[in-house]
Amino acid sequence: MSSKKIRISLDNKNIEVPVIEGTLGYKAIDTSTLNKEHLFSYDPGFTSTAACKSAITFVDGEKGELLYRGYPIEQLAEKCDFLDVAFLLFNGELPTFKEKELYSSTINGQSLLHDQLNNVFRGFRRDAHPMAVMVGVVGSMAAFYFDNMNINNKNHRKQSANKLLAKVPTIAAWSHTYNLGLPFVYPKHDLSYVANILNMMFSSPNKPYHVNPIITRAFERILILHADHEQNASTSTVRLVGSTGANPYACIASGIASLWGPAHGGANEATLKMLNEIKNESRINEYIKRAKDKNDDFRLMGFGHRVYRNRDPRAEIMKVTCHEVLDELGLNNEPLFKLANTLEKIALEDEYFIEKKLYPNVDFYSGIVMKALGIPNSMFTAIFALARTAGWIAHWHEMMTDSDNKIGRPRQIYTGRTQRDIP
Ligand code: CMC
Repeated sequence: MSSKKIRISLDNKNIEVPVIEGTLGYKAIDTSTLNKEHLFSYDPGFTSTAACKSAITFVDGEKGELLYRGYPIEQLAEKCDFLDVAFLLFNGELPTFKEKELYSSTINGQSLLHDQLNNVFRGFRRDAHPMAVMVGVVGSMAAFYFDNMNINNKNHRKQSANKLLAKVPTIAAWSHTYNLGLPFVYPKHDLSYVANILNMMFSSPNKPYHVNPIITRAFERILILHADHEQNASTSTVRLVGSTGANPYACIASGIASLWGPAHGGANEATLKMLNEIKNESRINEYIKRAKDKNDDFRLMGFGHRVYRNRDPRAEIMKVTCHEVLDELGLNNEPLFKLANTLEKIALEDEYFIEKKLYPNVDFYSGIVMKALGIPNSMFTAIFALARTAGWIAHWHEMMTDSDNKIGRPRQIYTGRTQRDIP
């Protein structure tokens, strides 16, 4: 806490509010006591509001820097696997060799779903969107795993966090096989976390899935890059729901619902939809023109970011991975991938995008990589959700130990009718 203060002068009255400083990033004005002065702060979209203190992830939008617990995302993507990152986010440190062994076997050991949960799946239409299924099935976990659900008990919190990390991939993979009308493939003890997800999605009783290391590595990267991103919309949703004392499964289900929106996690799916709609390189300019037209709602999906204004470091890593995967699979000349390359080039050289600092974000490339891996568009956001589960549980756990934590309850500037009587 800094000793600096900001003075607000209003109606001949001076109000002093404290300034808060973290270890990195902007200073903040602590406006939490302004209501005592009959004043609110107004900030739609929370563009200038810090809703909490957090030691998990730091994003520097100007520099294009992303740190998980102090470690740059580039190093994590290069040297760690997804479970290292999940452990780091939750516990604050990378696991030792022994901790990693225990963590992997704990998570792997819990990856099976309660057998009755199969029936929950069967209540959905076969053509239901995987995200709709995930919101429902993850929310229903509270009806199956209600032992050890005391949110004020640290061990209980750890146990439910582990259950979520272990079971959400199975739920995501099954929401895909359910769509296809294929039998559920159970997680295997001898496969890694990431290989298990691919195996559950792509193998079937009459056709084993052969794990390709380049593909597994690319998929691992997608999960690492999407694991956390400080107080984004879905994480803020998890925190807001968690602040009411709701159970962890309800909190994560609400995060999944929030992530589904096309301005957030749905952007990777929306990018592919857009590419399929553009179809032909000759139509790119028409779409660029539409993206620039104020009277047209269309936006170039996979471009722009609320926080990153110069570069999205995740997008740069994903771009390299994207080219590795396209090379490995010999897909560089496939029309859709050629179209994506050309669109990226044209937008990056366009004055409008340069001036507004609109660069491809991580979802532009992750959508293309997932498409190349054979993952259907409808599963893109579900994959994002299973990766972000690592961040959500870490934030939920952190919030529960924060002495400043109280129920989230924003105020408003009322613009309706003043009091009147019914005639
Ligand atoms: N295409 C065309 N114009 C755009 C785009 C775009 N993708 N993104 C922003 N703009 C324009 C926007 O119209 C506005 O113009 P003006 O200043 O003339 O009004 C200006 O750029 C600033 O945009 P903004 O809407 O104020 O920016 P924001 O911070 O509110 O929105 C965003 C950020 C990500 C929602 C937005 O860039 C967008 O809709 N992008 C497309 C969807 C997308 O790719 N989302 C994934 C984000 S990354 C994944 C994640 O972290 O969740």
